[in-house]
Amino acid sequence: MKYQIDPVLQTMHEQHIVQVSQGLLERKDIIPMWFGEGDKITPKYVREAAIKALEEGDGFYTEKRGRLSLRRAINDYQKRVFNSEVGEDRISVLSSGMSAIQLLFQMILSGQEADNDNIIIIAPIWPNAASVATYRRAEIRYCLLEFGDNGLSLDFNLLESMIDNNTRAIFVNSPNNPSGWMLTHNEIQDLLGLSRRHGLWLIADEVYNRLTYDDEVAPSFLPYAGGDDLVIIVNSFSKAWAMTGWRVGWLVHPHFVSEELNKLIEFNYSCVPGFVQQGCLAAIELGDEFISELVSYCDAARGVCLKHIGDLSGVEEFCYPNAGFYLYFRVGFRGACDDILGFARSLADDGGVGLAPGSSFGPHQEGWLRLCYARNTSDVEEAFHRMGKFFAKY
Ligand SMILES: Cc1ncc(COP(=O)(O)O)c(C=O)c1O
Repeated sequence: MKYQIDPVLQTMHEQHIVQVSQGLLERKDIIPMWFGEGDKITPKYVREAAIKALEEGDGFYTEKRGRLSLRRAINDYQKRVFNSEVGEDRISVLSSGMSAIQLLFQMILSGQEADNDNIIIIAPIWPNAASVATYRRAEIRYCLLEFGDNGLSLDFNLLESMIDNNTRAIFVNSPNNPSGWMLTHNEIQDLLGLSRRHGLWLIADEVYNRLTYDDEVAPSFLPYAGGDDLVIIVNSFSKAWAMTGWRVGWLVHPHFVSEELNKLIEFNYSCVPGFVQQGCLAAIELGDEFISELVSYCDAARGVCLKHIGDLSGVEEFCYPNAGFYLYFRVGFRGACDDILGFARSLADDGGVGLAPGSSFGPHQEGWLRLCYARNTSDVEEAFHRMGKFFAKY
């Protein structure tokens, strides 16, 4: 036989978040808290802007890195909310945060096994960045956050000790999925220093930077990273504007990669559809009120989680969710520690609560489960009631 399927692709498996829900997605009796999305739909004015554009014939190819009007609006938004003006030339609109990461790894990793590229990923973390890097033949070096009395923290000495000549990037996701951990302003500056000292790419995934409970926004690289810094910030319309299915994100990057991104976008999907961009324009210009409402909505659900989590039998620890919309907690049952995927699977199938297993988020996550609480409080109450009954069996 002459046909070939990439051998590395063949060795890869579907994410555990996907495996846990396989065959169960149609089950209406399961409360679906496994994926990174809630039950609120995209704001009306966003939907209407896209429909209007489509009805007016906005169905042609558009600029590769996104329409100037949208890139300008993103620049204004960042100025308004993060007090940072990078200029539209350093902004590229891409087809989702996921695809942005995919393109970035196409850009900075050679894709050749013989080159021994490695990237350092601060974990626990949403799994897809590691998957793309693995697919691009890079070794993944996980720098695990340490769990202590004050929650999770980053050990800079450990991080720096992992860097060698073949390290191509440090990837950090703050606010973090699954744990809600956030970098401080000082840590952002320290990471920037590390990137400058080592001449290393720093990829900052900030897709949850609006979903914070004590401050209006999370500390961001935006005001710190200059146009010559090797820093790329990933953002997305998915979470803060409830647009997961629209598949649009954006990057803030140095000027000198714009041309490279143009090429990669051309090879991958050519452009983000124009009418979708018109929806995004409405979201970024008019969406601040929606975001405040979404944060209050999630905060109420977070309150339910915090009320019950301490009383749930078997729960040994949890990460206090300062940001994002996830509760990450560890159960100590034997079965769960040995096979958290199997445990999450039976919790969904028999217990009626769909959660993501910790094994999705990096090494040494035995016993950990992630619950997405971006839902109405009665669902969250009911989920805790069901978990109480299910955990009592262990
Ligand atoms: C940390 C993080 N980064 C990026 C993404 C990708 O978002 P999207 O591809 O929907 O824009 C997600 C989605 O769950 C995420 O949790």
